[in-house]
Amino acid sequence: MFTVDNINTLASTATELASLIQAVAAIEDRVQPQDAWCVQSMTDLLEQDSINMLIVYDKNGKKEAAQYKVIGYCLYQVVFEQSEILRIGTHPDYQRQGVATHMFTELNTVLKQSKVAHLMLEVRADNKAAIALYERQGFSIIHQRKNYYQLPQQAAVDALIMQLMYP
Ligand SMILES: CC(C)(COP(=O)(O)OP(=O)(O)OC[C@H]1O[C@@H](n2cnc3c(N)ncnc32)[C@H](O)[C@@H]1OP(=O)(O)O)[C@@H](O)C(=O)NCCC(=O)NCCS
Repeated sequence: MFTVDNINTLASTATELASLIQAVAAIEDRVQPQDAWCVQSMTDLLEQDSINMLIVYDKNGKKEAAQYKVIGYCLYQVVFEQSEILRIGTHPDYQRQGVATHMFTELNTVLKQSKVAHLMLEVRADNKAAIALYERQGFSIIHQRKNYYQLPQQAAVDALIMQLMYP
């Protein structure tokens, strides 16, 4: 059974924090290989007050956070009443098992407690899995950036901006 926590709550030492970020970066390499964020970028971002990360993990019978198996993550930013998901991913071996849904339940709770009005994100228009997840969570498309993602020898892909309003 997996658990979700804020990375800073879960890690009680700098070494544990570094180890958890390393595990997240390893999942990024697998699930977003064309655009993976590295350990240093995420470490730097997490030093900003507005940026936080939820981690889904399996304790695996271990006592120290550095030994837990990280299976999902969500890096997000809150600026006054606005919030944005910067990165989200689930380890390939654990996809379609409710991990991201579990993260959203926790994220929604945290953001509502912080009196956030809406949550935004950007997604490639060809990322059917992520779009299905976001629609299921109540997000709607509010803007489309034409040909936003451009890679050599590949057709350009639109970016969709999606938003979830909190009552
Ligand atoms: C998108 C992603 C985070 C979903 O994580 P997940 O833990 O597998 O999601 P869940 O199991 O909570 O799925 C919830 C719902 O989302 C939708 N969904 C998730 N993956 C899907 C897929 N591959 N195809 C279609 N619908 C999908 C379904 O409605 C699913 O509910 P169901 O399984 O009962 O049908 C995961 O596929 C991933 O890490 N993708 C690579 C990284 C990425 O694209 N990140 C987003 C960038 S914007």
